[in-house]
Amino acid sequence: MTGRICGTGFCVPKRVVDNEELSRMVETSDEWIRERTGIAKRRIITEETTVSMATEAAKQALADAGISAEQVELILMATISSNVILPCAACEVQKEIGAVNAVCFDINAACCGFLTAYQTAQAYIAAGIYQTILIIGSESLSKLTDWTDRGTCILFGDGAGAAVLNAGEGERFQSILHSDGSRGEALSCSGKHWKSGEEDTGFMKMDGREVFQFAVKRVPEVIREVLEANHCKLEEIDYFIVHQANRRIIESVAKRLGADIGKFPMNLQEYGNTSSASIPILLAELRKNGTIKKGNRILLAGFGAGLSWGAGIAEWTIE
Ligand code: UT7
Repeated sequence: MTGRICGTGFCVPKRVVDNEELSRMVETSDEWIRERTGIAKRRIITEETTVSMATEAAKQALADAGISAEQVELILMATISSNVILPCAACEVQKEIGAVNAVCFDINAACCGFLTAYQTAQAYIAAGIYQTILIIGSESLSKLTDWTDRGTCILFGDGAGAAVLNAGEGERFQSILHSDGSRGEALSCSGKHWKSGEEDTGFMKMDGREVFQFAVKRVPEVIREVLEANHCKLEEIDYFIVHQANRRIIESVAKRLGADIGKFPMNLQEYGNTSSASIPILLAELRKNGTIKKGNRILLAGFGAGLSWGAGIAEWTIE
């Protein structure tokens, strides 16, 4: 048995913050941000929360899949910005959608969170434990952002994406994930509750250049690794859905692979980097606008805090 994506959904906050607005808050410019990242705007929560956006994305994904909330056996929620520490965000979504038969837990793997949830769901399906699984990536990174730090605040945005996986016959693709905890300081966040001293704001801290260099090296490597593990050729991939962190990173990944940049859809210009939500938001948008079609083979690739990185393959089997 293998897990097939049979429905997707996404939700972003109403409030749009463009680069002009940011340039009134920190010393930056629309030109610099567009040139160095490709980002033009991002969505920031006002009354929305990580759980409310996840709930909306989950409802859409279930409706798209034609599956009732009661049929869901497992909810995996990838997030680093849940509303509260306890209960977990997956349980809060369960309550909101009425998925009374589901087991629920959160996954903290930052920008690799959705991919980690995808691999975990596939493993449960392959083991015959669950057949119908809801996976979600939802973030309110604006809560963890230092709005006086131009090195990070220009990058991030809020949002949620979800997908429903159903067990079915067919080829099973192996996902590959890696972590290197020794490089964790490159992108860290102690959280306001645990901040270690006066100099620690508790907000996200990042060595942008280190993360950039890590991404452009490791992402092409793991894409090649996952293709080889699944006896799949680069040309057989219709779309590469890469974590939406920076347009230059995605362009470099395409170049290093020798792949057509046209196969790397992007929406980071609209939403910025939404961490675990970036891959499922893009997936849901591409489904909604009819870009992804039945029979397409899609490669998902993520990277981020941990440091962690990975890739997985999904065969698109729905109309
Ligand atoms: O989910 C994974 C999370 N993170 C990432 O993917 C981040 C990966 N890294 C990046 O995307 C890029 O490193 C950044 C966009 C964060 C920075 O771009 P960069 O081209 O690596 O810039 P830099 O850090 O090398 O800085 C170049 C210059 C510096 O000035 P000097 O030292 O050359 O005078 C910075 O102080 O740009 C300056 N700078 C800015 N200027 C205007 C840094 N941030 C800004 C800014 N506006 N927002």
